[in-house]
Amino acid sequence: MNPTTMHPAPPLPEDLTGLLRRMRLPYLRAAAPEVLATAKAQRWDPTEVLRVLLSEEIRGRDEATKAMRRKAAGLPAGKTFNSWREHDSSIPAPTQSALAGLEWISRAENLAITGPSGTGKTHFVEALAHNVIDAGMRVSWFTLESLTAAITRAGADNSVNKVIARITRAELIVVDDIGMLPSGQAAAEAFYRLVDATYERRSLAVTSNLHPAGFDTIMPKTLATAAVDRLLHHAHVIVTEGTSLRLTEATAGRGVIPLH
Ligand SMILES: Nc1ncnc2c1ncn2[C@@H]1O[C@H](COP(=O)(O)OP(=O)(O)O)[C@@H](O)[C@H]1O
Ligand SMILES: [Mg+2]
Repeated sequence: MNPTTMHPAPPLPEDLTGLLRRMRLPYLRAAAPEVLATAKAQRWDPTEVLRVLLSEEIRGRDEATKAMRRKAAGLPAGKTFNSWREHDSSIPAPTQSALAGLEWISRAENLAITGPSGTGKTHFVEALAHNVIDAGMRVSWFTLESLTAAITRAGADNSVNKVIARITRAELIVVDDIGMLPSGQAAAEAFYRLVDATYERRSLAVTSNLHPAGFDTIMPKTLATAAVDRLLHHAHVIVTEGTSLRLTEATAGRGVIPLH
């Protein structure tokens, strides 16, 4: 409905629709009837018409790219800063906002968040990941298991380099939850390869209940040491503490919606 005339905007002439299809301008085409009707009613300058139409196309494309990247990133739970309570986190507020500003990503610095289970490590990193995508960049999200599976699968058909290249196209690569279970040679190799490929080139964020310096207790020592050495060279190391928010919510009966 056109707000000025209160009538539905007239459709575009068919030949014009054809031209816009041919030029692949779907968002401009969708917006054009309304924009043209408003422009006519309000006697817009032609420059303004062109500006508004092209801006619509660009906005639509940017949105579509972000939606695609959000899907491709494989983020776990859809948690963002909207549902994040800054003051419930043991991470100092200035640190939170500095990280949310993402400058460390443009410097290809790493992030290691370590602390007990339930202290918001995954939620915080996922919220950062959403910010990264909103800022027009890409994210690849893994657990150590899914990373190991991806690299091992690639190893079977000699495409490890290709897979690593694809993963490291993202500006932020996440390996969530290292060290819940002891991991073997394959996991250590996969992790080492990723750390090496991203070193000084891309940001890598890891979460773990262990400090990275202790990764050699859950992975073969030589690989773990080499990986952690590179990981920590340019890294922000953040320690979360406190009791599990999961447990607090569960014992307060806030973990579920009552069944009746
Ligand atoms: N500061 C916070 N604000 C809002 N929710 C939080 C916060 N910290 C933790 N949570 C919630 O508590 C639960 C556990 O957090 P999670 O990030 O999975 O912990 P971890 O990865 O450290 O084990 C999740 O449901 C998460 O959304
Ligand atoms: Mg977690």
